[in-house]
Amino acid sequence: MQTQLTVVLSKTVFFVALSMPLTWLAWQISIEIAAPTTALGADPGEAIVHFLGLWAIRLLLLAFAISPLQKIFRQPNIGKLRRMAGVYAFVYALLHLTAYLFFYLEFAWDALLEDFVERTFITVGMLALLCLTPLAVTSTAGWQRRLRRNWKRLHRLVYPAIAFALIHLYWLTRDGFAEVFLYSVLFIVLVGFRWVRR
Ligand code: HEM
Repeated sequence: MQTQLTVVLSKTVFFVALSMPLTWLAWQISIEIAAPTTALGADPGEAIVHFLGLWAIRLLLLAFAISPLQKIFRQPNIGKLRRMAGVYAFVYALLHLTAYLFFYLEFAWDALLEDFVERTFITVGMLALLCLTPLAVTSTAGWQRRLRRNWKRLHRLVYPAIAFALIHLYWLTRDGFAEVFLYSVLFIVLVGFRWVRR
């Protein structure tokens, strides 16, 4: 009974924590609408695209870190938060794509096709999202039951998803590589941990 209460409580706290960046962004947008260029800088569209992209990759890494954390701290309940982190990462990535379509392309689909072919960092970003989509769709317990062992196999798509997202970030970074370096090291450490455990 107490364990169940702890799980419900930690899920609620986690849900609120993961919603914080979105809430903060909504608040900044409302300030921006009232007083242009005060909250999101000279190019609010770019600031929104970047903010959502960064949170997508951070939450993706967080979701990927949950299994190792669960093993290190020997706390099976930590694993119950993985799905939420993964789904949130997907939601941020979808919003990131929507913001890009809205602010950069004004929903001109031919320009999207052009970007997809000509700008390799966009191609790689799309590949990352493509890998994440089946993971988000099949993240429920029902799909886990239906797919059985194939569920685990399918969820290995998280590796290329993170790798593509990191390449996407690396290719569009013009200066200040510290962040992409930090995320890449974290990814390598987490992959190493899983590999050693196996
Ligand atoms: C359909 C797929 C995607 C498209 C079209 C796309 C497009 C973009 C664009 C246009 C930018 C800004 C580039 C600039 O202004 O120079 C960007 C930045 C970024 N994107 Fe994506 N992206 C996609 C998927 C993803 C995914 C799946 C992730 C992470 C999981 C991601 C993470 C990022 C990050 C971290 C940034 C850089 C933010 C910063 O430097 O502050 N993107 N993306």
